[in-house]
Amino acid sequence: MFTDLVQPDRVHRSLYTDREVFTREMERVYGGTWTYLAHESELPGPHDFVRRRLGLRPVIVTRDAEGGLHGLLNRCTHRGATVCRDDEGTTARFVCGYHNWTFDSTGALVGVPMRKGYGPSFEPGSLGLGRLRVESYRGFVFGTLNQEMPPLEEHLGYAARLLDQWLDRLPGSRLVVRHGTHRLRYRGNWKLTYDNSADGYHPGFSHASLLRMRKQRYGVGVDMQWTLGDVDNGGQTVTDLGNGHTFLDQRAEIDSYWESSAPMPGEQAYEAVLRERLGEEAERMLDLAVGSGMNLNIFPNLLVIGNQIQVIEPFDVDDTHLIWYATSLEGEGVPEELTALRMRLQEDFPSFGEPDDLVNFEECQNGLSIPEMEWVVTHRHLETGRSHLDENGNLTGPVTDELPIRAFWRRWTELMTSETKLVAR
Ligand code: FES
Ligand SMILES: [Fe+2]
Repeated sequence: MFTDLVQPDRVHRSLYTDREVFTREMERVYGGTWTYLAHESELPGPHDFVRRRLGLRPVIVTRDAEGGLHGLLNRCTHRGATVCRDDEGTTARFVCGYHNWTFDSTGALVGVPMRKGYGPSFEPGSLGLGRLRVESYRGFVFGTLNQEMPPLEEHLGYAARLLDQWLDRLPGSRLVVRHGTHRLRYRGNWKLTYDNSADGYHPGFSHASLLRMRKQRYGVGVDMQWTLGDVDNGGQTVTDLGNGHTFLDQRAEIDSYWESSAPMPGEQAYEAVLRERLGEEAERMLDLAVGSGMNLNIFPNLLVIGNQIQVIEPFDVDDTHLIWYATSLEGEGVPEELTALRMRLQEDFPSFGEPDDLVNFEECQNGLSIPEMEWVVTHRHLETGRSHLDENGNLTGPVTDELPIRAFWRRWTELMTSETKLVAR
């Protein structure tokens, strides 16, 4: 069925508007592959937890007494109520509010009031909370209900190497995600965000006001001639990383971008630490550390953008939440000014750029409601011969290439048509 709707050069509008498609996605896409849940720094100590979702499934990510990570289905094994109703916290026991069945931080059932009433055949050992398979890569915690998925790092493939590059911009520091969130909500399908996350075609048009403001205020700005003149800027690229993961790389340009600007508060303190730790290398890393120049999209819901993490949370076929998590660096000798600088930079896009995107998403959803206009075009640069295998063996094209969208739909189709049984352990 989906092979008719996902074609090499176009996809059908119903994939964004049909509630049955959405229901299947929430089961098969979210849950059928490794799906981002949380960052380890959000639950640093024993018995810390955060409440999350895997598609529409309520989930708790916990640490047990020994520091082990667990992904638990937030669903009492008695009559189905959620057992955790707080977004985050620390507890050794989850007590269901309905009849007080009690579970520990590994999900085991450890308390049943008036237990004798269930008779001698009652087996608490088999009534623990449903468990996801959970793995963490350098602090990024993923879960799945597909027991056949390869190990997380293998699944991430070259996306893991790019995550390394993103994380290793200041040696000796560690990433911390613990500063609250910036929540946005739009009346549109969740995939509109992923379509957009490696779309280098739209910024010059959709974000023109932000780019103009930056130029006026800081004297720097991305040169938009390439989109306006259809030159497809040679310095920026998009890449298909496999398994639906995609990448928009602006690093080749970011040097000139920052170099031409006046130093920002905090930049000098940061530069001093980098020089001390990296010597010559510091010059290049300074630019990347401030701005990152990376949009790394890990299928289906994790977008690493600038210095932030953005998570897509679908609620309905036309109702999506986007959660931006600011990040900071901790560790010996990490200058305080750096945190302030990163925070100021992280206010930038969610405040002044994301609203442009959200309007586009809502207007796409509105337009896609027209039954008689069936198709969405995805074949930019499919036939121009501009994409090639890069030195890592990944398909790479000019920044306005729609190859990331095509990569997404390939992986999506695999998961939507898969017969693999999904099970909680
Ligand atoms: S539903 Fe949880 S204890 Fe009854
Ligand atoms: Fe955008």
